[in-house]
Amino acid sequence: MNKIAVLTSGGDAPGMNAAIRAVVRTALHNGLKVMGVERGYAGLLNNELKPMNRSSVSDIIQRGGTILRTARCLEFKQEEYRKKAADILKKNGVDALVVIGGDGSFMGAKLLSKLGVKTIGLPGTIDNDLPYTDYTIGFDTALNTALDAINKLRDTSTSHERVSVVEIMGRNCGDLALYASVAGGAESVLLPEKEYDKDELCGLIKSGKASGKMHNLVLVAEGIGGSEELAKYIESRTGIETRATILGHIQRGGSPTACDRVLASKLGFRAVELLLEGKTSRVVGIRDNKIIDDDIDDALAMKRKFDEKLYEISKIISY
Ligand code: F6P
Repeated sequence: MNKIAVLTSGGDAPGMNAAIRAVVRTALHNGLKVMGVERGYAGLLNNELKPMNRSSVSDIIQRGGTILRTARCLEFKQEEYRKKAADILKKNGVDALVVIGGDGSFMGAKLLSKLGVKTIGLPGTIDNDLPYTDYTIGFDTALNTALDAINKLRDTSTSHERVSVVEIMGRNCGDLALYASVAGGAESVLLPEKEYDKDELCGLIKSGKASGKMHNLVLVAEGIGGSEELAKYIESRTGIETRATILGHIQRGGSPTACDRVLASKLGFRAVELLLEGKTSRVVGIRDNKIIDDDIDDALAMKRKFDEKLYEISKIISY
């Protein structure tokens, strides 16, 4: 192995820069050459590769977003484009590709590896929706960003004695909303993994008010959506003023937390180690506080385990 390339793909996540830095510096330390691919698979198809050295990744560990930029590339679902990408990597003398992204990006890496390209995946997404790893890079930062917003919303909700419905990102995964509800002391959380009843929710809000609650925070995962309509429904059924806030892309930005930086550094380091050990088509992650790696096919086939215990805790301690 002589030269590797690294790219970020899909939605950006805080900590991606720390991961790029770890990959680049670990590779250079081991005598490998490194190229950065700009704009994910879309940039790869455009031959947007540039050599990277130690200083290319200076002063980035604290920055959100990704210095390599990112894109969602629909063309990559077609084999002719993946063949083109494999050719471009070959022409640039690249022996292996490190992909930092979510499940769509891993799917691209998996299919590319079937064409003979050595690939390693690093989980970079705020959604925490990759079943093989306990945490993804960016989740902790997004969680803290959501929490900061929730704390602020609590101030204004209490002052006005209102209900606050807050919509949290996560695509089809409720982890961000669930963790934010426990950490933020929300009264209720609606998740795609769990059935809910709007009238039961209104009943809880009314009894909370009757028992002296000055505010009521209802977190809604993006996978449920409809927070504006839900706010109107709650107001009409409870008679309590209700406002909806969709946190949106705010949750994707910002300086990564220490947890995300350390996780990204460990995973980036391990990705290069695996390549040096001659491994390919693997993804790295963290399970039970240990850095692990799995076959990319197995990782993508795994079913997500919902944290029932945390959900139970959230319900019991919220009222
Ligand atoms: O996957 C990260 C994520 O932020 C999801 O939570 C959300 O559903 C999606 O990306 C939004 O994508 P986009 O930035 O393309 O609108």
